[in-house]
Amino acid sequence: MICLTQNAYAKLNLTLDVCGKRADGYHDLQSVMQTVSLCDEIQIEIETGNGWALQCDVDGIPEDEHNLAWKAAKLFCESIKCDPHGLTIKIKKNIPSGAGMGGGSADAAAVLLALNRHYGSPYTVEELADLGAKVGSDVPFCTLGGTAMAEGRGEILRKLPNMPHCSLVICKPEFSVSTPVLFRKLDDAVILNRPDNAAMECALIEGNIGSIAANLANVFDPVVSEDHPEICEIKSVLAEFGALNSQMTGSGSAVFAIMPDKQTAQAVCERLRKTYPHAFTAEPI
Ligand code: C5P
Repeated sequence: MICLTQNAYAKLNLTLDVCGKRADGYHDLQSVMQTVSLCDEIQIEIETGNGWALQCDVDGIPEDEHNLAWKAAKLFCESIKCDPHGLTIKIKKNIPSGAGMGGGSADAAAVLLALNRHYGSPYTVEELADLGAKVGSDVPFCTLGGTAMAEGRGEILRKLPNMPHCSLVICKPEFSVSTPVLFRKLDDAVILNRPDNAAMECALIEGNIGSIAANLANVFDPVVSEDHPEICEIKSVLAEFGALNSQMTGSGSAVFAIMPDKQTAQAVCERLRKTYPHAFTAEPI
């Protein structure tokens, strides 16, 4: 038996704009995406001599072929025509699910990266990201990582300058939102506050964290906030502790903030945990 290990890093959407509905049912997006240090821990055992299996340490995650990590492993093995002679994926979940942090996509990307490395890198990272698009819209970005502009349904990626080091806090309230339901709700909503992606790109080029904070914008944020007061409650606690700015990531329900320093990030995280167990400090990577 051979055991491969790989961290699966979460993503945040610094900006997220939905530009229109497509004929295939998906929506065209424009989003500046960022990898952060919060991660799931993935182990892949191959040559187990058994069939395929998946184990996850938290409830509510599919432990079969419906899991994106399983789909990614199957796709990879089929595409390079290899037989792993039994494969078990073990997932230690630290990224909350239903958070808009791409947890399932990160796990899938980690599986692709680990298998690709083990089998002698038949794919470049870019090719692997393209393969990941067949598993889910966020898998290509999670494979590439760093800071990037995502377009199309999320699979067209352009590398941007790395976000400068800063202290982040991420907090997920109890509720989760269905991504397809939210896309449908947005179809009927009037979008008032769209992100200025050009300004965000300039802020990243300058490495100006104040300007990055000022340009956070996500069209899903007001749509979810109007039904769930927790989003605004979390934001006001973050503001009380001096957050440069805060917003929801992806289709929610996690909210993240850029904090002035590590101390205030830790302090607000402890305060939030009294009400919301899923509160974390993190940094861009
Ligand atoms: O690609 P993925 O399976 O992650 O997408 C989940 C769902 O989110 C899709 O079935 C679709 O309803 C919605 N979606 C969308 N436009 C995107 C990405 C996702 O409408 N760009």
